Amino acid sequence: MHPPLRYGLIGCGGFGRFCLKEYSQMEEVVCVAVADDQPDLAAKTGEAFQLHACATPQELLDRTDIDLIHLATPPFTHASLATAALEAGFHVLCEKPLATTMVDAEKLVRLAAERGRILAVNLIMRYNPLCQAVKALVESRILGDPLHAQLVNAAQDETLGAGHWFWDPEKSGGIFIEHGVHFFDLFEWWFGAGEVLSAQQMTRPGTDIIDQVQCAVKYGDTTLANFYHGFHQMLRRDQQAWLILFEQGTLRMREWVPTQLELDATLSEAGLEALVALLPGAKVEIVERYGESERQATSRHRSRTVDVRINLVDQPGLAKHDLYGQMLRDLLRDQIEAIRDATHRRTVSEANGLSSLAYATAAQALADRR
Ligand SMILES: NC(=O)c1ccc[n+]([C@@H]2O[C@H](COP(=O)([O-])OP(=O)(O)OC[C@H]3O[C@@H](n4cnc5c(N)ncnc54)[C@H](O)[C@@H]3O)[C@@H](O)[C@H]2O)c1
Repeated sequence: MHPPLRYGLIGCGGFGRFCLKEYSQMEEVVCVAVADDQPDLAAKTGEAFQLHACATPQELLDRTDIDLIHLATPPFTHASLATAALEAGFHVLCEKPLATTMVDAEKLVRLAAERGRILAVNLIMRYNPLCQAVKALVESRILGDPLHAQLVNAAQDETLGAGHWFWDPEKSGGIFIEHGVHFFDLFEWWFGAGEVLSAQQMTRPGTDIIDQVQCAVKYGDTTLANFYHGFHQMLRRDQQAWLILFEQGTLRMREWVPTQLELDATLSEAGLEALVALLPGAKVEIVERYGESERQATSRHRSRTVDVRINLVDQPGLAKHDLYGQMLRDLLRDQIEAIRDATHRRTVSEANGLSSLAYATAAQALADRR
C-alpha cells in the first residue's frame, strides 16, 4: 500500500473547490495546500477544508512536500502555470483545455516528457460507464457501422455574467476550446481519428459575445458528426441531447454527464445475444418479433437477417452529481497509478490533451474565417 499522493490546488474557484471535495473522499490522494491569485479566496477555501492556504501560487510551487499540482484556473493561465509546476518538478493535473494554443500545448507536453512528469488533462468523459458502453458498442459492430453522431449542448449561462472570463476568447480560447474539448476527445475515442470539415459561430445580437458554435467532423469513412454548443439557457433548462445512428439501431443519451443510455435496435437473435452479453446490466424489452417471411431486410444495398426489434435502457445507477464525482476520482486514480507504475496505460494521457485541442483549434480557425 502506497502512502497517499500529496497534491496542491491552484485555483480555488467553483471547479477547484468541487474537485477538492470529491478528491477528499479518496484514500490515494491528500491535499496539502491551496492557492489562488485572490489570497482571500485561498484563505476561505483553506479554512473550509482545513488546509494550509498559501499567500500566492508561487508559495505553493516552492513547497517540497507536494507531488502533484491540480491546476483549476482559467484556460489562458494553464500554459504559464503548468510550465512553472513542471519546471519545479511536480506532476500536473490540468483542467481542460491543456492550453489555448497548440504551440503552448505542444511545448508543455515536451517539457513534461523531458522532466518525466505526468501532465494529465481532466478530460473525464471517458470515465463515464455509459460512454464506455458506447465505445464497446461501436467497436463490437453489433449495430453495424455508426453512420452519424450528434451532440446538442444547450448549456446554461445563468452563472456566466457578461464580464466572465468564459466570454473572452483571449482568456477562454472560445467555446470549442474551453468546453468542446471534452466531446472532441470522447468522439475520437469512440470513432477514431477525425477531420473537422466546417465550423460556424454566432454572436449574441447587439454584443460581441459568441454564444453559439457548431462544427461538422468526419471520422474515417463511416461517420459524420455534428457538434452544437450554445451557452444561452436558464440554469434550470440546461440540457444536452446525444444521438448516434448506426446501421441497425439508434442510441440516445441526455445531459452532458449522461446517466441513461437508450437504444432502439433491429437485430438477429445472434446480435441480440451479443448485445446482452456486452451490456449485462441493461434492461431489454422486445417490442417486435419477426416471422419467417419478415426476417429478410435490406439497407445500404446489403441484405440483413433480423429477428427482433428491441428497446434497451442502461443506467449506471448513480445520480448525475455522484456520477460526475466518480468520473473525476477515476481519472485521478488512473493518473496516480501511472505515477506509481510507469508501465500503467492510462485511459487519458497527454496525447488526448493535445488531440482534443487540435480539433478545437481547427474548428475555431474555420469558424473565424467567415
Ligand atoms: N473537467 C471539468 O469537467 C471542468 C468543469 C468545469 C470547469 N473546468 C475547468 O476548470 C477551470 C476553472 O474553471 P472555474 O469554473 O472553476 O473558474 P472560476 O473562475 O470559478 O475559478 C478560477 C479560479 O482561478 C483563479 N485564478 C485565475 N488566474 C489565476 C492565476 N494566474 N493564478 C492563480 N489563480 C488564478 C481565480 O481567482 C479563480 O478563483 C477552467 O479551465 C475550466 O474549463 C473543468
